[in-house]
Amino acid sequence: MEIRTLHADEQLPMELLLLADPSRKLVEEYVQRGQCMVAVADNVIIGVYVLLPTRPETVEIVNIAVDERHQGKGIGRQLVHHAIANAKLLGFKTIEIGTGNSSVGQLALYQKCGFRIIGVDRDFFIRHYEEEIFENGIQVVDMIRLSQDL
Ligand code: ACO
Ligand code: ACO
Repeated sequence: MEIRTLHADEQLPMELLLLADPSRKLVEEYVQRGQCMVAVADNVIIGVYVLLPTRPETVEIVNIAVDERHQGKGIGRQLVHHAIANAKLLGFKTIEIGTGNSSVGQLALYQKCGFRIIGVDRDFFIRHYEEEIFENGIQVVDMIRLSQDL
């Protein structure tokens, strides 16, 4: 498996991006401003992450996803580590990530990769998403914000 930049002439892996973020409108908007990296195996895109500069010296992983058939094999962890190294190489001092209050596995993964919880953006998903979203039997309402010094 190789992790590389999505080439300008390649189609966006929209199905994957929508796994992490159900809002096509938000995805299309931040993908344009950010750097889209893909995990490729046998010429097929099986994972993606998007890095977006947000504030001076700060970058955020705004989207990360692995094809359902390939989840649980360590690819997500490799993508998070790649994003951290990539952000460091680009000269950023802080990397951030945010996920829903219901995303138990994602919160475990990010903390295993060195992120620490820094805050809660209350009602984020109520303000920014039209439909109600449920995961692990929990309604997604708040955004848990995590950060790591580079
Ligand atoms: N408790 C403890 N640890 C857990 C739990 C849990 N409930 N769930 C997962 N983990 C751990 C795993 O054990 C593993 O750690 P390990 O390597 O120590 O065993 C790690 O978290 C996940 O391992 P990977 O196999 O590397 O993850 P995967 O390849 O499945 O990718 C991802 C993770 C990207 C979250 C994937 O499941 C996915 O695409 N999900 C749907 C989209 C999504 O939710 N994306 C994130 C939204 S937030 C955002 O985009 C900023
Ligand atoms: N992802 C999603 N849901 C989960 C996960 C997970 N990783 N882990 C647990 N849950 C859910 C279960 O699915 C279940 O929900 P459900 O009824 O919808 O299926 C619920 O959480 C737990 O169910 P119970 O069986 O009622 O819980 P249990 O009898 O095991 O008691 C407790 C929970 C008290 C935390 C017990 O595990 C325990 O004693 N742990 C050790 C002591 C401890 O950690 N106590 C809490 C410390 S904080 C404090 O004391 C204030």
